[in-house]
Amino acid sequence: MLKPEIESALNDQFNMEQSASHGYLAMTAYLDARNPNGFAAFMRRQADEERVHALKIFDHISERGGTPKLMAIEAPEQDFDSVKAVFEAARDREGDNTRSIHALFKLARDHDDYPTQTMLQWFIEEQVEEEAWCDEAVDLLTMAGDSSSALLMLDQKYGGLATAPTDE
Ligand code: FEO
Repeated sequence: MLKPEIESALNDQFNMEQSASHGYLAMTAYLDARNPNGFAAFMRRQADEERVHALKIFDHISERGGTPKLMAIEAPEQDFDSVKAVFEAARDREGDNTRSIHALFKLARDHDDYPTQTMLQWFIEEQVEEEAWCDEAVDLLTMAGDSSSALLMLDQKYGGLATAPTDE
């Protein structure tokens, strides 16, 4: 059975993952309005992955006897100055999410909630990967600058990553 403090914090994290999915879909819409669409496909996949993350927490709450609570999701930023600005916003979002996951893990540890700690181990590793792709994308887009050929190559790279195997 979940302690109320843990259930409440898990619900917040569930809604944060839902919000991330919403945010990445808004980024997809911005990128999709510009051709080519490799970056958009990559961001669409991130939106789908965040939904899976949200449901992992939803299921954990349910399995532990709690009740997931859906909250209103704030409208995300949908206007960006550039593709690089999109990935910088993604990097900020993932940094916030990492801090939130770490705080949640600490709370579970402080309450001796071992199942929640075990479930969150996956998220801790996932955040390392997600921060890494954000950092790499921002670095590569900085190098590309305004070069159309470099941006085209990066678009193809990210379009390819959109269909690569993943563990979510
Ligand atoms: Fe589910 Fe990107 O955090």
